[in-house]
Amino acid sequence: MSMLEACLFDLDGVIVDTAKYHFLAWRQIAQELGFVFTEADNERLKGVSRQRSLEILLEIGGVALEPVDKERIAAKKNALYLQYVHKMRPEEILPGARDFLIECRKVGLKTALATASRNAQVILDLLQIAALFDVVMDGNKVSRTKPDPEVFLNCARDLGVAPSRCAVFEDAEAGIEAAIAADMLSIGIGQPEILKRADLVVPGLAHISIAGLRAASDKKKNAVA
Ligand code: BG6
Ligand code: MG
Repeated sequence: MSMLEACLFDLDGVIVDTAKYHFLAWRQIAQELGFVFTEADNERLKGVSRQRSLEILLEIGGVALEPVDKERIAAKKNALYLQYVHKMRPEEILPGARDFLIECRKVGLKTALATASRNAQVILDLLQIAALFDVVMDGNKVSRTKPDPEVFLNCARDLGVAPSRCAVFEDAEAGIEAAIAADMLSIGIGQPEILKRADLVVPGLAHISIAGLRAASDKKKNAVA
């Protein structure tokens, strides 16, 4: 009998592919600062907060800025990013995401959104899926970003579920590390070569069922016992 009681979902890369919009916005900032920012560089920003992303970007470009300029540039990046986000339609939800969320709720699993993004609410509203989450834990409500487990532990607390009874769905390495640190079942969304430490890796939410999830949970429990 599976012990699973809740599913916690990362947003960017799991529910919706916003990484391309983050990339376009950061690329424009880099261009204005006089250097080239590639898609390979963008991998380093996945799962990372806006401020930390800017630090990494500046490191890549070898640019040093005063704190006040960093604030201004982070705000500009967000304005550029939101221009793309506001054009998003509900169809942009990643394949299988809506159905899997509905399925979870149907079988009595609680659901939470667990993301570093401060733009989560507007994205959920645009995708028309806000009602599918019992808890929304975003970058406005956590102080330490992944790989720190804070965002996931806060979800478990607000859902009233023990961390060991939660499963996390994550596309970033830092997110898998955070799930492990929180003592949760970790389901990687993406490639097994990158998400090496996840309990299970699938290419997307269209490729996992509740039965498959419960089997992964049982396997982990038996391995620990
Ligand atoms: C994460 C993304 O979900 O949110 C990162 O993977 C992004 O790339 C971070 O930097 C913060 O997002 P936002 O929307 O607050 O700038
Ligand atoms: Mg992500």
